Amino acid sequence: MITEFLKITGEHYNDAEVIDRAARIIQNGGLVAIPTETVYGLAGSALIPSSAEKIYSAKGRPADNPLIVHIAKPEEAETLAYTNETYYKLAKRFMPGPLTMILPKKGIVPDEVTAGLDSVAIRCPSNEIAHRLIEVSGHPIAAPSANRSGIPSPTKAEHVRDDMDGRIDMIIDGGECDIGLESTVIKLTDNGCIILRPGAITEEMLREICPDVSIAKAVIEPAVAAEQKVESPGMKYKHYSPKARVIIVKGSFENYRRFVSGKKNCAALCFDGEGAMLNIPFIEIGREHDSSAQAHLLFEALRSLDDMGVETAYARCPDTDGVGLAVINRLLRAAAFTVIDVDGAMIIGLTGATGSGKSTVAKRLCEKYGIAHIDCDAIAREITSANSPVLAQLAAVFGEDIILDDGSLDRAALAARAFSSKEATKRLNGIMHPIIISKALAKVNAFTQEGKTAVLLDAAAIFESKIDKLCAFTAVVSAPAETRLDRIMYRDSITREKALSRMGAQLSDEEYAKNADVVLFNYAPYDTDAEIEKIIRKYKEKKL
Ligand code: TXA
Ligand code: MG
Repeated sequence: MITEFLKITGEHYNDAEVIDRAARIIQNGGLVAIPTETVYGLAGSALIPSSAEKIYSAKGRPADNPLIVHIAKPEEAETLAYTNETYYKLAKRFMPGPLTMILPKKGIVPDEVTAGLDSVAIRCPSNEIAHRLIEVSGHPIAAPSANRSGIPSPTKAEHVRDDMDGRIDMIIDGGECDIGLESTVIKLTDNGCIILRPGAITEEMLREICPDVSIAKAVIEPAVAAEQKVESPGMKYKHYSPKARVIIVKGSFENYRRFVSGKKNCAALCFDGEGAMLNIPFIEIGREHDSSAQAHLLFEALRSLDDMGVETAYARCPDTDGVGLAVINRLLRAAAFTVIDVDGAMIIGLTGATGSGKSTVAKRLCEKYGIAHIDCDAIAREITSANSPVLAQLAAVFGEDIILDDGSLDRAALAARAFSSKEATKRLNGIMHPIIISKALAKVNAFTQEGKTAVLLDAAAIFESKIDKLCAFTAVVSAPAETRLDRIMYRDSITREKALSRMGAQLSDEEYAKNADVVLFNYAPYDTDAEIEKIIRKYKEKKL
């Protein structure tokens, strides 16, 4: 399909002509991307079931996520939904504008639009182009954000072109969207409303009209507890995601600066004026306490990260009140809810190949210096203990028979399947790593509350799991292969072959050393206690 790309500038057609052409596409069941005051929308007729199907397919969106129906005037909701007094009170104040209200639907709205729900989302956009298209086409318009599913919503026509070229009939370029984040979505209750998705119409603004306003828990918490069974792990709560992994960093700018300093292959998402003080690539996302500016810039910043080709982005944590709630809501999803606090206990990463003596080093270090110890391998065992919810997820992917009759995990059977191919290992890690990370971070927070100033995050697969990205710095315990081989054979009473195969499954010593900030030599003639001092020196250097 060839996608027409038209600007509302009068360059090729005058504005009325562009709108007329777009309206005909809508009437004939086609799709047009249009600007709105929030983000670009992918518009199709809300009365033609096949238009909705085309929208899902162009976006690659799961068909169980309902669309918003856009109307030109609040009273047009009457044909589509059962309205009430609150609807009109809110409409009077906020329509047209960035507010979407969920109401019980009427029969005229196809199930395809509402994903089979008995409610429908109604919004009356203020953007002139969107507004006129609805009027001229004579159709209510179903329009989700015009991005490919899972990535940030488009705030410029070029973003839409990147995502939708060749997949839809037309893109209307109406310039940059004013707000930059999607509309506030509320569900009307008997005497008030619940905010399902925060936006530019804030809780305080809604409260002026109807005092009974609450905020759904899912706005700032994962929609499903990470370890719960979900249909497609990771997908339910990861949205707006660039390819780079996003980590939100709470705390003072000074501690943030120290944390990111010297980190490789990463970028900063920081506030205006901060980038020049950092020694890593950066994108500024508005002034520090200016939530509206941040809302305006966030999605474009997330998209630009991919052009920079970095692996990790460290985002400064925005204010979370007013419009800030919408900003943090999107950022949390982009970050899959990974938040670290650089004003809290410093996270020191420790790793080492099997037989390197990592456990010995961890124990001595923590005992001698009163550092808290978090053992990620123990967390991995804990979350896969008998009858845990993670087992159900693993069984869904690797086969029910990896669970034994007593509800415990057959670790050998899982290992045989999960390590049979790179793809299988990736799936295992995709389930395990996010849960381990969230559990580990919860433990870090608890230690911070206890007043600890440093925690040792001890993980064999620290680099493979990308847990190193959470750490202020990482240390690797190193010993020659022959030494490690002897230690493993002795420790586990296993044959040379078995010990070698275990060692072969891990990164080489050189790879560990290359990735780490500090290397400790844990073999004769080195003195282990003196080597451990290297970690303390690095800690002090980072703390200065
Ligand atoms: O600002 C916006 O709202 C943009 C522009 C284009 O209007 N549209 C937009 O649509 O963000 P979309 O599809 O990306 O997001 C719609 C949100 C989804 O979270 C969806 O689950 C929710 O609204 N939604 C739609 N209908 C619903 C319903 N009947 N019940 C509950 N949630 C609903
Ligand atoms: Mg969307």
